[in-house]
Amino acid sequence: MKKLLIFITILLTGCSTEAAITKDDLLIIAHRGDSSEAPEHTMPAYEKAIESGADFIEIDLMMTKNGKLVAMHDETVDRTTNGKGKVSDYTLEQLKDLDAGSWFSNEYKGEKILSLQEIVDRFGKGTQYYIETKETGMEENLLDILSKRNLLDNVVIQSFSSKSLMRIHKINKEIPLIQLCESVDVPYLKENEINQYANGIGLNARLVNEAFVERMHAANLVVHTFFNKDKEKNQIEDVVSYGVDGVFTDYLVNAKKYQ
Ligand code: G3P
Ligand code: CA
Repeated sequence: MKKLLIFITILLTGCSTEAAITKDDLLIIAHRGDSSEAPEHTMPAYEKAIESGADFIEIDLMMTKNGKLVAMHDETVDRTTNGKGKVSDYTLEQLKDLDAGSWFSNEYKGEKILSLQEIVDRFGKGTQYYIETKETGMEENLLDILSKRNLLDNVVIQSFSSKSLMRIHKINKEIPLIQLCESVDVPYLKENEINQYANGIGLNARLVNEAFVERMHAANLVVHTFFNKDKEKNQIEDVVSYGVDGVFTDYLVNAKKYQ
C-alpha cells in the first residue's frame, strides 16, 4: 500500500514517468543481465534475465575510441575479456575481436562485447532497460539511439554523476532518472535537491533502513538498492522489509521470491 501511495504521488506531482520505477510489489532489475548465470553484459545474460522475468535489464555504458556506446562495467577490458587496456582505447570493431565469455566459463567462449545498438535491436520494446551512464558526454548519443528505436518510454537512466542526469533531464523531462549515491556521500544526501531532476535514489543495501526509505518516499523519491554480490542473499529480505521499491539483483530466481 505504501508503494502504491508513492506511485500515485509521483504521478500527481507531475514527475510522471513512462517506465514504472515502482510497483505494488518489488521491482526486479537484472544487474548486468542474469550475471550469475551467464557472463555479464553478454547476449545470453540478457536473454536469461528476460526469460526469468526481470522487470528491467541493467546496462552499464562505456564509450569506445570511435564514440560507440558499449555494455561494459569496467573502464578496462581486463576483467571480463581476454584483452587488456581501456575500453576508450579500442574501436568497437577492435572490441568485437575480444572473447567476453571465457572468463566466466568455457560454455560461453567467444561471446562478444555488445554495443547498445545491438541490444536494443535484439530486444526492442520486449523489455525495459535500466541504463547507467558511466561517464559524462554520452547523453545525446544515448537518447538518440533510444529515440530512433522508440524506446524512450521503456527506459530508466541511472548515474553516479548528477551532471549526466541533469543533462538528460534538460533534454527530456519525462525519462525516469535514478541518482546513484556513493556510500561516502549518503550521509550528505540532499533529497530535496535530487528530486528536482531525479525520481529516485540508488544505493548500497547496507546503508538502507526503514527510516531512510520513509525519508526518501516523503521527498517523492523511490529507493532501489544494489548489493555486494556475496551479501545479496543475506540482505535482500531486510531491504524488502524496509519498503525499498526495487533491487538490482545478481540472483534473479531468488529475488523473484520477494515479488
Ligand atoms: O547501477 C547500480 C549498480 O549497478 C551500481 O553499481 O558498480 O555495479 O555499476 P555497479
Ligand atoms: Ca550499474
